[in-house]
Order: sequence, then structure tokens, then C-alpha cells
Amino acid sequence: MKYPKEYLDEIKTRLKVSSVVSKVVSLKKRGKEFVGLSPFKNEKTPSFTVNDEKEFYHCFATSEHGNIFDFVMKTQNLRFGEAVKYLANIAGMQPYLFTKQDEEREKNWKEYLSIYSNYVDYYHDQLLKNEKLSYARDYLKNRSLGKDDVKKFKIGFVEKNPSFFDELKKEFSEKTLLESGLFYFDENKKIYVERFRGRLIFPINNISGQPIALGGRIIQNFDYLAKYINSPETPFFKKGSNLYNLDQARKLSNKLDHIFLVEGYMDVVGLCKNEIENVVANLGTSLTDKQILVLNQFFGDIIICFDGDESGYKAALRAAENSIKELKPEKQISFLFLPNKEDPDSFVNKNGKNFFLDFTKENKISIHQFIFSHYKKQTENNPSSMAVFEKKLRSITNTIKDSFIKKYILEYFLEKIAELTPHSNQNKNKFFKKKIKSLESTKKIYIESETITGVELKEYSLLYLILNNLSFFQSNIHLVENIKIFTEINKQILNSIIDKLKVKDQIDVDNLNLDQQLLDKINKFAPIKHILKNKPNNDDQVIDLLDDISKDLFNHGLELRIQELESKFSKDMSERTFNELKELKNERKSN
Ligand code: UTP
Ligand code: MN
Repeated sequence: MKYPKEYLDEIKTRLKVSSVVSKVVSLKKRGKEFVGLSPFKNEKTPSFTVNDEKEFYHCFATSEHGNIFDFVMKTQNLRFGEAVKYLANIAGMQPYLFTKQDEEREKNWKEYLSIYSNYVDYYHDQLLKNEKLSYARDYLKNRSLGKDDVKKFKIGFVEKNPSFFDELKKEFSEKTLLESGLFYFDENKKIYVERFRGRLIFPINNISGQPIALGGRIIQNFDYLAKYINSPETPFFKKGSNLYNLDQARKLSNKLDHIFLVEGYMDVVGLCKNEIENVVANLGTSLTDKQILVLNQFFGDIIICFDGDESGYKAALRAAENSIKELKPEKQISFLFLPNKEDPDSFVNKNGKNFFLDFTKENKISIHQFIFSHYKKQTENNPSSMAVFEKKLRSITNTIKDSFIKKYILEYFLEKIAELTPHSNQNKNKFFKKKIKSLESTKKIYIESETITGVELKEYSLLYLILNNLSFFQSNIHLVENIKIFTEINKQILNSIIDKLKVKDQIDVDNLNLDQQLLDKINKFAPIKHILKNKPNNDDQVIDLLDDISKDLFNHGLELRIQELESKFSKDMSERTFNELKELKNERKSN
């Protein structure tokens, strides 16, 4: 039986997550959170956190996440009802006594399930066996659906003049039959009518695999009939909370971390037939928060793949704007756009599984990329239009509930906007121009030396500068001791020069014993030689040049670190990585 929300909330209010968890895990306070060793994993460094304010625990090592009920269920291996009783007791509350109403509802629920399962079984059987229904079987054959597919989804067909109502009436009351939504009462003719007559029926199951609603498709085209209809909402079926095929697809979540979300029943059937079984459909309505949350419980990446037509695109945009609110760390929502006029069913049937999966890999884009590119298309290159653009992106970002994701996505949008508006991006530009300039002066040699990377060239400049000013660096050795070099061989050379400068008195290039080939390369390619040439070096100039080079090398290191963290962040989405990344990016800006 279902506990009322108020009762569960009362337990949550009385019990802090940390106090429940600390019965099992020893916790240390850190800021607003508590940390400890994960109870879900044997570990030496703590990756388990508890946040009382947000009422959840989270294990970074295993991605286990939940509230006090989840915690007790998982650590003590209890069922939900048992966890509630256990926690209510600790909270000093009476066990919940279910009322008459609760019992009534429970009874209705059992009857409802029983009606649906009878109905689904009966018409499934009819579709497979009834001789009069060969035209329905022919329809399926034409769509290349075989017996196995029909059985897997328990597809049925309701004949045109059905009389199953009378059969069911023997066992169930008219009231509950009416409440199931399978029938309605025709006031004129004073008879009960089967809503799905003349339709193929697709059972919509709850997460435990019990049918609780139907989708029905006509197989002969009549303009006055909708191609598809669904069961109406009932006390036990809410469209926005269910997804077609979730009961089957969720079983794959231990093997696969992504799920395809499509528009239609036939898209699900078509993909499954082609061995892509991690697929669900929303039920002809727009995607709800609840559906996203449910999918995220099982899968890290939701790939929304609607029809390749205008209405599919519009539905995708609506889904993007709605579901971005629910984006969570470690979760992803992506979009896959199919060629015009294709839907997932037609596309996979035409091209097969591998093509479909490769196409997905190459073409899926993340939710923020989609939103950005959609609104960018509508933006012109003038301040007024750009302002509307930025405002729109900011207001979409503001709907995101998770504060870390919000920060990260806003940063993504603003950086992309900055790329479109060079004037507000002067720092980067300056850096870029400088690089171009130094390259231009060495263009000819650079072409000759295509295999030498930009950073190597900078290192050559550094070595060139040192080698041509040995006595200066001998007395100012601290200036070069801490410069980070990225190429192994250059690093060795620099270290050996430094060592020798430290021990010898008077030194010149010849008694450094450097590899002649490398020396030649440095002398030939170091871009700096064009600046030093013809000019007597004075100390100030040397310091300035050294400053420039070491800054460039430092920025190169920064850039590498940023790239590394970005790829880490896209995987772990952790707060720590985000903050570190943010700091580095600020540093990059101020350079
Ligand atoms: P489509 O019209 O794209 O159908 O509707 P489909 O999936 O390609 O189906 P086939 O291939 O023609 O059989 C997609 C979904 O939109 C809802 C249904 O949930 C359907 O699966 N829909 C469509 C309705 O609810 N009513 C309709 O009249 C049409
Ligand atoms: Mn279709």
C-alpha cells in the first residue's frame, strides 16, 4: 500500500540524513556537508557525502544517490515499507495505519490491474489465432513485424464489433470497468463501447511490467479517426509519469548507460526489432520532468531522437527547454536529428543497427549545444539581436535546478557568445595576434619545419636566448630555473645547461658539450633569432624576451591543464573539478 506523502515528509523532517547515515558510516563535517567512507564500496579515501539541507547522500565512487529511505533500503536490504516502519520508529512516530480509503484504493488497484491483464491477454491471443483477423496480421506483415515481435510487446487487435465487455462483467463491476478507460458509455444507444475497437493495441506497462494503459493504432485509414489513441488518464495511469517500454529497457541499464527516447510505439518496436532495445517512447504528449527523472535513475545519457520533420524538431526543442531544468551532475541529455522525413523506425529498418548506432555516435549533440545552435540561427549580427539572444540563453539557464550545472552551462553559453563577438574577447585576440606575428616572421622556416610544434619553437627560443647570453644567465640563474619545458629532450638540455652554469666559472657554448644536431636545429629554427640578430643584447632586452617566452610556455601549460580538466569534468561533473577549471580559466583571462 502507498504511504501518504505527508507521513513520509514528517519522517524526513524529524530525521536528518546525517543522523540516519551515521549509524552505519562514521562521518566528518566538511562545510555544509558530511563526508565518510562509502558503505557501497571498499575504499580508503572518503568519496561518500551527506547533505542534510538537500536531504540526500551521494557516493562519488559508485554514483549511489538517494534519501534516507533509499539509504536504509540499500544498506539493510529492506523493502520500502519495512524501511518506512524502521525509520518511523527511530523518529518516534506511530506506525502508519492505513485507513478504509487506503484499503479501498488498494482493492481498486488490484481490480484495475486484473482488468488490464485480462484484456491484453485476450486480444493478444485473438490477434495471434483468430481466423477472422488475418487482415490485421497482414497489416503487421506489411510492416515487417513477425510473430516474435508481436509476442514480445504483447500487441493485440480489438475486433470491430467486440463483445468482451460482457465477458468481463461477469467478474468486475460496471463501475470499475468504466474507470479502466477501456470502455465508455454511449448515452444515445445506452450501451458500453470498447474504446479501442478496430485498433491494434500496444500495452503500456508500469515499471514492474504490468499493463496499466493502452495505445491503439487504426490499421485502415479513416479521416475521421485519430491514427493513435491512448487510454484516458485514470487514478492509476498518468501519461506524464509513464514511458512505453521502460519496464523492458530498464533491465539493460547494467550493460548500457544510454537510452533512446523516441516519439512513437512503432519507433520502439522498430528499434527493438533491429536489436536496439534500450529505447522508450513518451506517450504522444510533451516530455515531462518526471519522465526525465525516471530515465536518469537508470541511465546516464538520454538520447532524444524524434522524427526528422518540423513537428519532430519542435517537439525536440520543447523537450530540450523543459528537460534542461532537470540536468544533473553525471547525467547527460543529448539530441539526435534524423534526415528529413525519417522516423527512428523507418531509419533503422532502412539502414540497420550498425548504421543507426554509427549515425548516433557521429551526429548526437548535447542539450546545451542544441539550444545554443537553435537560438543562434535566429540571431543576426547586431547588438539588439545579440542582446535578445543572450537574454534568452540566460533565462533558459536560470531554470536549471542544479547549481553546478547552471554555472557550467552559463559559462558555455557565454564563451560561445564571446566567440561570436570579437570586441568583447580582446584578451584572446591579442594572444592570437601575437602568435600569428611571430609565426609570420619565421614563415619560411616554419613551413620547412612543419614537424616542429609551436611549443617546441618556443622552447628553442628560450634555449637560443640562454645560449647567446650565457654570462648573463650565469649570474641570474634563478630566472630560468623554474620555467616549465614540455618537450623531454629540450628539458634535458635546459637542465644540463643550468647544471653547468652552476659549477663552472667562465663558460661558452663549446664547453657545454651539447648535441650538435640539436644545436643546429635551435640555431636554425628558434623564432627569436630574428629579433636578436643585428642587435647587441642588453640585459633589459634579454629579461623582456625571457618574460615573453616564459609567459607563453606557462600559458601552454595552463591550456593543457584546462583541456585535461574539461574532459575530466565532462565525465565526473564534480564540483571540485568545476571550481578548479573556473580558477584556471580566470587565470587564463588575466594573462
Ligand atoms: P506518428 O504519427 O509519428 O506515428 O506518431 P508513428 O510512430 O510513425 O507510427 P506509424 O509508424 O505511422 O505507425 C507518433 C506518436 O504520437 C502519438 C502516438 O503516441 C504515436 O506513437 N500520436 C500520433 C497520437 O497520440 N495520436 C495520433 O493521432 C498520432
Ligand atoms: Mn512511423
